[in-house]
Amino acid sequence: MSVKPTRLNQNNEIIYVTKPALPPLEEFVPYLEKIWNSKILTNNGSFHKQLEDDLADYLGVSCISLFCNGTIALLTALQALDIQGEVITTPYSFVATAHCLIWNKIKPVFVDIEPECCNLDPEKIEAAITSRTTAVLPVHVYGNPCDVEAIQAIADKHGLKVIYDAAHAFGVKKNGISMMNHGDLSVLSFHATKAFTTFEGGAIVSRDRKTKERIDKLKNFGFAGETSVVECGINGKMNEIQAAFGVLYLKYIESYVKKRKAIVFQYRDALKNIDGIRLMNDIEGVVHNYGYFPVFVDEEKYGISRDALYEKLKRHNIYGRRYFYPLISQFSAYRDSAMFGPGTLPVAEKTAEQVVCLPVYPDLGEAIVDVICHLFDRSAN
Ligand SMILES: Cc1ncc(COP(=O)(O)O)c(C=O)c1O
Repeated sequence: MSVKPTRLNQNNEIIYVTKPALPPLEEFVPYLEKIWNSKILTNNGSFHKQLEDDLADYLGVSCISLFCNGTIALLTALQALDIQGEVITTPYSFVATAHCLIWNKIKPVFVDIEPECCNLDPEKIEAAITSRTTAVLPVHVYGNPCDVEAIQAIADKHGLKVIYDAAHAFGVKKNGISMMNHGDLSVLSFHATKAFTTFEGGAIVSRDRKTKERIDKLKNFGFAGETSVVECGINGKMNEIQAAFGVLYLKYIESYVKKRKAIVFQYRDALKNIDGIRLMNDIEGVVHNYGYFPVFVDEEKYGISRDALYEKLKRHNIYGRRYFYPLISQFSAYRDSAMFGPGTLPVAEKTAEQVVCLPVYPDLGEAIVDVICHLFDRSAN
């Protein structure tokens, strides 16, 4: 390994896996003044409308509905399509993916992932379909596109809906087409840790106006007019401060993604030839957002376990995250189901034991990335 940083992280700066980039505060002040003057704080105000339009343009989608966060958006997406019974999903995700099923009284049926991108393995979906299956809920993990064609073919064959948890896939395109334009619905998260953020926030991308109108009613208590409530909705609305921030953030997104990309390429260059360390590379035809940089540790070849590496980084104030360990199916809230016990999801289980995501964020300095890479040297302590 050629990297020779001049010093380790000696100033004790804590480097977390992510740190949100923020546009200059003074640029946000006029947005706040507009809100203060209008006294419209929420309920589909002008920033809310503008952000929906701006995002539809930027993402290349026809309909988008903003939400207070991605979890409520996921819950609402399932309601909007009347999903019931069983849903096939991945154990290799953030817990919210499966929690939303349970909150809708739907049984999550975990299916194994493929080892390359860590997404739901389409080849294993059909064996998990039963007479109660109504939908598939895949996740574009780390923003890497799922095999959308294979998943759609299975869904069409069995009459299933497809809802993508696209929390990691903001702005991701394949062959010029937004990943949000696949399946019946795609759900985004704008949490502070994501490539595009509104502090908290989320959205559902739908394919037609009628579905968007239903979603918009559902996120506003089911109101269809001043005195008419047509379904049992929830409060999923994004407020005006979040929306205004999103409008401003969108002006910076390209420059932030560019900075993330430079960091990811620096990591790749430094870590590419280490025996026992697997990296993820760009996929041909895909525009990535570089939201995550996972590395996979093969203890036998590398000589050090993933956890030992993770702890070593921590000793140097580098706080990677083991996304996604444990698997959702291994949490006590899910473990009851013997169906998904040890050995039943072998690829996901192995991946969860090997992964650590390294820090990536727009303001992460080159020198710190050098330090992190140097720590991969087995002799560095
Ligand atoms: C894959 C995935 N799904 C859903 C969520 C939930 O989104 P939110 O935090 O905006 O509720 C997140 C992350 O936060 C996530 O990473």
